[in-house]
Amino acid sequence: MPLTARPVVRYVALVFVIIIALHSILTFTHAGYSRATSLSSLLSPAASASPDKVPAEYFQDVVPDYAVGLPNANPDPNTNHNGHLLVRKANATLLMLARNSDLEGAVKSVREVEDRFNRKFGYPWVFLNEEEFSEGFKKRISVLTTAPVSFGRVPAEHWYPPSWIDEQKAAAGRKKLQDEGVIYGGSESYRNMCRFNSGFFFRHPLLTQYRYYWRVEPDVHFHCEVDFDPFLFMGDHGKVYGFTITMYEFEKTIPTLWAAVRAFVAAHPAYVARENAAAFVSDDGEGYNLCH
Ligand SMILES: *[C@@H]1O[C@H](CO)[C@@H](O)[C@H](O)[C@H]1NC(C)=O
Repeated sequence: MPLTARPVVRYVALVFVIIIALHSILTFTHAGYSRATSLSSLLSPAASASPDKVPAEYFQDVVPDYAVGLPNANPDPNTNHNGHLLVRKANATLLMLARNSDLEGAVKSVREVEDRFNRKFGYPWVFLNEEEFSEGFKKRISVLTTAPVSFGRVPAEHWYPPSWIDEQKAAAGRKKLQDEGVIYGGSESYRNMCRFNSGFFFRHPLLTQYRYYWRVEPDVHFHCEVDFDPFLFMGDHGKVYGFTITMYEFEKTIPTLWAAVRAFVAAHPAYVARENAAAFVSDDGEGYNLCH
C-alpha cells in the first residue's frame, strides 16, 4: 500500500544517511577505522594480511590538536585507538646535513616532518654541518620541535678528500664534467657530501648512539601523513635500509663505477654479502640498470 510504503522508504533512507554520516565521521577521526574499512581493504581482505603491508601495530592514530589534553581524547595514554602500545620506541634519530645558509630550507623540512610524522613519535633530531652552526640556526631549529635536538660538526677528515688523492687530476676531471654540462659536475662540496654520506656519517659521535637514522634534507616536502613507525617496523623485520623512491643514475657521472665494482667483486668475492641487492642494481646479472 502506497500510504505505508512511503514512511518505510523514508526511515530506510534516514538510517542509510545516519550510517553514511557515522562512517564519514569515524573515517576522519579514527585512522585505524579508516584503514580497516577503506574500499581497497574491503574489496581484498587478503591484501591486508600481505607481508608487504605494514601491520596495524606500527600505526599510531592521530589525536587532533583540538582534542589533545581533553578528557577522553585518548583514554589510556599508553595505547593508541587500536589498543596497541605506544610506549615502544626505536633506537633512532632524524638526521639532517645542512649549512647555515640552508636555514630556510631546513626550517621547512623540520616543520613538515614534525607535522606529518614526528609530533606523534618524538624522535630526536641530529644536525651536522661541515662548519659550526650559527647561534641563529640553532635557535630557529630548536623551537620547531619538542624532541631533543643536537648540533654537531663533521670532522674535516670525514669531509675533505684524503691527502693521497691527486687534486690536479681530480680538478681536471671536475672541469671536464662541468664543461659537458653534467649535474654537480664542478662541485667539490657535492662530492664531499656524497663521500660523507657513503661512509662516514655513522661514525660521528652524535650518531654512534643510534641504530637507525632517517636522512632528511633541507627543503623536502611531506604531503601525506606518516602515521606508522618505520623504525620499529624495520627493526622488527630485520631491515637495514629503506627508501621511497629510486631514480635513474646519470650515466655520465659514473663512467667507471660499474666496471670498478665488478673488478672488485671478482678479486674479493669473500666481501660479497650472501643476501645482497645485486638483483636490484642489475637486471641481467651483467650490466648496471642505473637504479640509484
Ligand atoms: C642504540 O644503538 C647504539 C648503536 O647500536 C648502541 O650503542 C646504544 O647502546 C643503543 N641505545 C639504546 C638505548 O639501546
